[in-house]
Amino acid sequence: MKDKINTKIVKINPNNIDCDIIKEAAEIINNGGIVVFPTETVYGIGADALNDEAVDKIFKAKGRPQDNPLIVHIGDFDDLYDLVEEVPENAKNLANKYWPGPLTMIFDKSDVLSDKISAGLKTAAIRFPLNKIALELLKESKKPIAAPSANTSGKPSPTEAAHVIEDLMGKVDMIIDGGSTYIGLESTVVDMTSEVPMILRPGGVTIEDIVKVLGECEYDPAIIKSNEKIIPKSPGQKYRHYSPKAKVILYKGLVENIVEKIIEDYEKFELEGKTVGIMSTDQTHKYYNKKNVICVGDRTNLLTISSNLFRDLRKFDQMGIDVILAEAVNEEGLGKAIMNRLSKAANKTIIV
Ligand code: TXA
Ligand code: MG
Repeated sequence: MKDKINTKIVKINPNNIDCDIIKEAAEIINNGGIVVFPTETVYGIGADALNDEAVDKIFKAKGRPQDNPLIVHIGDFDDLYDLVEEVPENAKNLANKYWPGPLTMIFDKSDVLSDKISAGLKTAAIRFPLNKIALELLKESKKPIAAPSANTSGKPSPTEAAHVIEDLMGKVDMIIDGGSTYIGLESTVVDMTSEVPMILRPGGVTIEDIVKVLGECEYDPAIIKSNEKIIPKSPGQKYRHYSPKAKVILYKGLVENIVEKIIEDYEKFELEGKTVGIMSTDQTHKYYNKKNVICVGDRTNLLTISSNLFRDLRKFDQMGIDVILAEAVNEEGLGKAIMNRLSKAANKTIIV
């Protein structure tokens, strides 16, 4: 490829951060380059948010549609004031409780941020991440960093450096390997410009968490109804997403019915000559006496499922699976975010 970049891969122990590497990474950011770094949600592909040329490189490296705006990361709450028109009181309250953390808030943007970042919208998405490496990089570069998830557009977000290498080798200047991410799903996106704060993408901070602080919060109707006529307020939610190469079928219903139907369909697809995989849970794993079964986690501890989900979808691709049969989980708490990603990855949902 003619414009291949020499990608430097470096390892950082989050508990003993090598300041020299952070300095080098910050220099790349300040010179208009691209650095991939871990956050507590997923890996991000970062550039100086105030440099349009650098931001352009992110869109190019990911193959991201130009109409999908980027999240701007800050390392200090006070940095927010430059980037947005107004910080409403309820946003301060939420930030007090959940920043740094897996929460992105949408504000009316100030002129400091360009149309490139916001994809022409009047608003901007801002996040204060909770990851020592990300925070050191923000502090050292002294820049707001635009960073979407560090995957090729459409693929599952990366939760390990190996996933980033698979997608972005030769397309970025540096990849910082800081181990596996903690939550494994992207942050909650909440629109603070609407009358009642509105969740545009469910994530690690749940609607229950937000209601506890603000007394009110609602979901964008587009993420609760599977009606394609409702246009989501978050441009990213309109694309099919988080998709492995394999076809994904999602099974919803009572757990025992799901298991029975998955076994039946597994055998049907096998007869058709397909290589079939099952995404099981701790509670159901023992019932599948089949090949290619990956246990994604524990239904009673949804954090185990969120942190493994994208990694396991990628694993099925490495195994050469044609069809993944995946179990739905309960949509409460973190389950809402897990089901949002699974539904977007799925070609088909079967209710049993
Ligand atoms: O956890 C995360 O949020 C990760 C890490 C790296 O911080 N980042 C991430 O970025 O997931 P990305 O670009 O993959 O997803 C950003 C989402 C997209 O769905 C985008 O459409 C939406 O946020 N978004 C960004 N700016 C917006 C805006 N002004 N209004 C509505 N939605 C916006
Ligand atoms: Mg993304």
